Amino acid sequence: MELGPKRDIFVPCLVSLDRLSEICRQQKLKCADLDITRHNLNYYEVEYLCNYQKKEDMEFYLVKWKGYPESENSWLSRKDLKCKDLLNVFHKDMERESKRQRQVQIVNGKKPRRHIRKLHPTVAEYLKLKGQQRLLLAAWQKDLNRKKNHSALILVENDVDLEGPPASFIYINEYRPMDGVVMAKEPVVGCSCKDCFSERGNGCCPTINFTSFAYNNSGRVKVKPGTPIYECNSLCQCGPECKNRVVQKGIPFPLCIFRTDNGRGWGVKTMQKIKKNSFVMEYVGELIPSEEAERRGVIYDRAGTTYLFDLDFCKDDYTVDATFYGNISHFVNHSCEPNLQVYSTFINNHDFSQPRIAFFAMDDLAAGEELTFDYNIKEITEDMADAPNSPIQASPLSSHKCPDSSSRALHGQVTNGPVAIASYSIAPDSSGSVPNGSITNGQVLNSPISNGLVPNGLVKNDLISNSSSQNESCNKDTVLHTTVTTSPKQRARITCKCGASTCRKFLY
Ligand SMILES: C[S@@+](CC[C@H](N)C(=O)[O-])C[C@H]1O[C@@H](n2cnc3c(N)ncnc32)[C@H](O)[C@@H]1O
Ligand SMILES: [Zn+2]
Ligand SMILES: [Zn+2]
Ligand SMILES: [Zn+2]
Repeated sequence: MELGPKRDIFVPCLVSLDRLSEICRQQKLKCADLDITRHNLNYYEVEYLCNYQKKEDMEFYLVKWKGYPESENSWLSRKDLKCKDLLNVFHKDMERESKRQRQVQIVNGKKPRRHIRKLHPTVAEYLKLKGQQRLLLAAWQKDLNRKKNHSALILVENDVDLEGPPASFIYINEYRPMDGVVMAKEPVVGCSCKDCFSERGNGCCPTINFTSFAYNNSGRVKVKPGTPIYECNSLCQCGPECKNRVVQKGIPFPLCIFRTDNGRGWGVKTMQKIKKNSFVMEYVGELIPSEEAERRGVIYDRAGTTYLFDLDFCKDDYTVDATFYGNISHFVNHSCEPNLQVYSTFINNHDFSQPRIAFFAMDDLAAGEELTFDYNIKEITEDMADAPNSPIQASPLSSHKCPDSSSRALHGQVTNGPVAIASYSIAPDSSGSVPNGSITNGQVLNSPISNGLVPNGLVKNDLISNSSSQNESCNKDTVLHTTVTTSPKQRARITCKCGASTCRKFLY
């Protein structure tokens, strides 16, 4: 800053550059680093516009100045304003709100005013609040983009109401284990392929873990819903460009959190075309024990909203709670005809009870299309599981489940449905035991295989069970698949507004 000999200015340490610029202008200080020069020293920044009037065909706007209190707001003519974008959004907001108020007047039997020279005070008040809301949403968007760990942008848009950013939501990129929850960070085994894609049928991670290579050459999922995805991990010899590293790279498309116009709160839409079977995002949140989820679920039910996703891929031990900590998936709404499909994914943590939940596009999606998944479990028949475009769904309340694990699937509900699924099972050796250290196809071992989770031998097995009384643990004979449940509803029901022709009327 160019300070005169007698001008000491004190600013708090680490004050933002915006605030520094404001202070410079208020104090009439030039500063090359902040691009405040003799020529622009007297420019003031418009924070938002909050009122409008027309006098003799000249347009005037009431301006809230950045860095000044509202008591300093002043009227400026259009020609003196150099903020084209702010003027555009202000006019859009003004027209929308004026139209809405005209309709209210018509409904109330009043004759609407035609030629407006001065805004009605309620419209002016709305525009002021809208300006303040835009600031808050812009700050939130900036914050989300600072916290995300992927390169694709997150946008925020509310053209519907005055709702601002959610009060207590913190953006995270990966599971946040609750105190006392232990999450494996290191895999037990990795591959030593030279080229994982060409060796996909042999020694690569999916094979080591008794399942198929999940992706095609373009990184799109090609295995059936219900099949676990094993990506390459921190022990693997391959590099970051390996074709078996997709989910771990994070959200690849620019997405927008937008306000829905039919009372479903926020939703998420894609800003770019997405090809069918592309990875879109992961569901992350706090990783909590299922008993804790039961407790929290009662509270969330009272609020009529839920962000709980049971990880019942195989065991029912954990739930992901995205209520307070989550990524953009926190805002994805339910549809009875969804366009996202859930896959349980294992990367550095191979614990069956802690799969990562990855969403893939079920169809080609257009730019601007809302992203949705099915919160409810559909009954899956073997035919459905085998169908080429299988609509098998997991739910935010349930991902996948072993047929032989306990019979609870939906959060807080008792399931009574049949289980029928085409699946992979891990077969015991002839002695029925699960040998350790017997994997020979080139993988790198980090520690002894524990608790039988990586046993020897793979058999493709179409397993059909309709028992709800089996209650074995998830080790040998474990089947990795999607469950089928129809269940009595014990929770507060939320009316579905998905608009699908096949809407089931309730979220769950
Ligand atoms: C995981 S959140 C989705 C994001 C939420 N809309 C928001 O604003 O934070 C789930 C909640 O969104 C609402 N919701 C989602 N899908 C809906 C639908 N199809 N119909 C009605 N409400 C829905 C319900 O309030 C539900 O409890
Ligand atoms: Zn490999
Ligand atoms: Zn690899
Ligand atoms: Zn519906």
